[in-house]
Amino acid sequence: MVSPRHSVHGQWSSRFIFIVALIGSAVGLGNVWKFPYLAGENGGGAFVLVYLLCTAFIGLPLMAAEILIGRRARRSPVLAMRTLALEEGRSSLWAGVGWLATLAAVLILAAYSVVGGWAMAYVFRAASGAFVGVDAYQASQLFRQLTGDPERLLAWHTLFLAVTVMVVGRGVRHGLEEAVRWFMPILIGLLLLLVWYAWRYGAFDQAVDFLFRPNFAALSGGAVLAALGHAFFTLSLGMGAVMAYAAYAGDRVPVLQVSLMVVLADTAVALLAGLATFPLVFSNGLAPASGPGLVFETLPLAFGAMADGEVYATLFFAMLMFAAWTSSISLLEPAVAYLVERWRIERPLATSYLGVAVWTLGLVPVFSFNIWAHVRPLDGWPLFQGRTLFDLMNFVSTNLMLPLVGLAVAVFAGWRLSPQTSRLEMGRTLGYRLWLGVIRFITPVAVLIVLLNSAGILQ
Ligand code: TRP
Repeated sequence: MVSPRHSVHGQWSSRFIFIVALIGSAVGLGNVWKFPYLAGENGGGAFVLVYLLCTAFIGLPLMAAEILIGRRARRSPVLAMRTLALEEGRSSLWAGVGWLATLAAVLILAAYSVVGGWAMAYVFRAASGAFVGVDAYQASQLFRQLTGDPERLLAWHTLFLAVTVMVVGRGVRHGLEEAVRWFMPILIGLLLLLVWYAWRYGAFDQAVDFLFRPNFAALSGGAVLAALGHAFFTLSLGMGAVMAYAAYAGDRVPVLQVSLMVVLADTAVALLAGLATFPLVFSNGLAPASGPGLVFETLPLAFGAMADGEVYATLFFAMLMFAAWTSSISLLEPAVAYLVERWRIERPLATSYLGVAVWTLGLVPVFSFNIWAHVRPLDGWPLFQGRTLFDLMNFVSTNLMLPLVGLAVAVFAGWRLSPQTSRLEMGRTLGYRLWLGVIRFITPVAVLIVLLNSAGILQ
């Protein structure tokens, strides 16, 4: 259990703060924005079921594996993989997993920051009363005004990323963890309010039916892959965020218990977001499959019709914005930590370099909603029909890169790391033995089946 090393970046002030930081990383746009829109696009119940299965059999054990690796090595993902591989007498090529992870992070952050910018924009719109009394048509017009205007999108993307860069530049410890301690409960409180509203005024039964009654006929190979990718995305797995955070964790943090808490919290928030959204989708005759705009076009309807709705709406989008920040800092941290460790670049400088790179990459998602909206390079391929550059960037990073890294991490933790090492970190418990069995035999096989299946190799 006692790790032989210290992280050059310091340590979380307590176990509680470590857990809060992990939940802060996991809970974000993935839960509130992405989960409802993916469930809507992929036919509901069957997608949700596959996502839950992936969470239990792939997400949970991998969360434990990433914590184990990060804490043992106490380095950023690239160097963590390298250090442990060499220590266990394995090839240093395992560092490549860390590189793929870091590349995925940069791609994801570029798109994430653009959507985080939407949440910021909506705080100001909500506060100015823009949603009061809106109908479904006006709500979707409001969304289009934002995404259709490259200058506005770029401004919000810049602002969102600037805050992320500032926070990471200062080191993760101060300020943000304290903030999540308050933001998370408020976000969940407001989600509950929205679920109550949706239950009272929306088509709640129809929504429950849509989300929880699996219709396997609607489950395409693409939907299974999307569910897998989303399980990684929403839990912040497959790109080293959890590894990086675990490098700053105490030696005695119970790996499995922490993983279970993070996974449960994250899943609960996603399901609440689905229950807040879909009743309004159905009662307003909207299409569940309306894509990335779904939540931004439906929730204003609820707020717009509530007494004091602008207050709740402002609070809600502010919380979403903070939840997005606590996630985006975890997307940036692994790469920054690498630059600091390997090249001894000062943290603020390293963060700025990466910020500029991510900002530039972010131009692709920004323009893909307006001046490049017609650019659909893979239209000829049925799986990608109608997909914009934003969709494709998400697809490659989330549905391919995250599962590939996850697969490698499972193999590494299960087969390449000696059981002596993993037992030392996790304790000789029943949970540990179960985990070892799952990470060896179930997790990698399940990921592989989904990947091969969607590549059309297993039919
Ligand atoms: N999990 C976050 C969300 O749901 C996003 C995120 C943060 C992420 N760190 C990550 C996604 C690492 C993939 C990998 O919004």
